[in-house]
Amino acid sequence: MYQIVKAEKLADKIFLMEIEAPRVARACQPGQFLIVKMDEVGERIPLTICDYNREKGTVTIVFQTVGASTEKMSWLREGDFFQDVTGPLGKASEWIEDDIEELKQKKILFVAGGVGTAPVYPQVKWLHEHGVAADVIVGAKNKELLILEKEMEAVAGNLYVTTDDGSYGRHGMVTAVIEELAAKGTKYDFCVAIGPMIMMKFVCLLTKKLEIPTIVSMNPIMVDGTGMCGACRLLVDGKVKFACVDGPEFDGHLVDFDQAMQRQQSYKTQEGRAMLKLQE
Ligand code: NAD
Ligand code: FES
Repeated sequence: MYQIVKAEKLADKIFLMEIEAPRVARACQPGQFLIVKMDEVGERIPLTICDYNREKGTVTIVFQTVGASTEKMSWLREGDFFQDVTGPLGKASEWIEDDIEELKQKKILFVAGGVGTAPVYPQVKWLHEHGVAADVIVGAKNKELLILEKEMEAVAGNLYVTTDDGSYGRHGMVTAVIEELAAKGTKYDFCVAIGPMIMMKFVCLLTKKLEIPTIVSMNPIMVDGTGMCGACRLLVDGKVKFACVDGPEFDGHLVDFDQAMQRQQSYKTQEGRAMLKLQE
């Protein structure tokens, strides 16, 4: 059993939980994810690791209530338990293998959209801890849905916050900030974009034009998380890849986002039925 040592509501439908999981905390690297299961019959929910504390033996997850299982998960409080926390799963971010002195010479841009800000944070934090200051763009629908701003400010080089409705920071979507930076002549060696698939698609279309290599983190439906069931399959450069074992990070310029979004939509009816059951 894995105890929740902290449970916090960050914004509407967005929750943070710190969980005691010493083995995962010891081994995890930026870019990896874990799978939580609330009880014996619970759905297996994949979530990117948002933070870890190796001394305390805890990992932090941030999730949005998007269906019946995450809704039920949001009811858990400090002191409650998860039956299972499996991880770390997937591959660590590729750049972690790079020579740190070389990374220090590079200009890196992170683009975080909505709840995707959570998985971006440990990557920027890791770089900060190794003396690399990366620029970060964070986009949210509005001020109320903006998360981890203070935490990000502490580890980012330059932080650009933008809201779709202009209620805080700049007005517009993350792509507008990328265009603004490019127009100013800021050059980046590579970009990491994490957020809703539609955001990652449009960021990639733009960075392809700007010739900035771009890594994205894909979060399709997953079941086993070990490459056995095929649920998380994606098309990358025309080839079938499994997000859980081949990713979750991929070269964004090679991902077929339209196919991935279509697959994601096909589970909507099942999710809707599960939500109705929960409300009964
Ligand atoms: P959102 O819809 O509020 O979008 C966040 C930001 O993305 C927006 O503020 C905007 O700046 C940008 N964006 C959205 N559409 C865009 C477009 N067409 N062009 C350019 N920029 C665009 O995000 P949300 O509601 O927090 O997102 C939730 C989704 O994110 C869920 O589907 C969840 O599965 C996904 N998610 C993905 C990951 C991951 O690892 N890839 C992690 C967490 C959440
Ligand atoms: Fe089953 Fe990836 S979740 S193959």
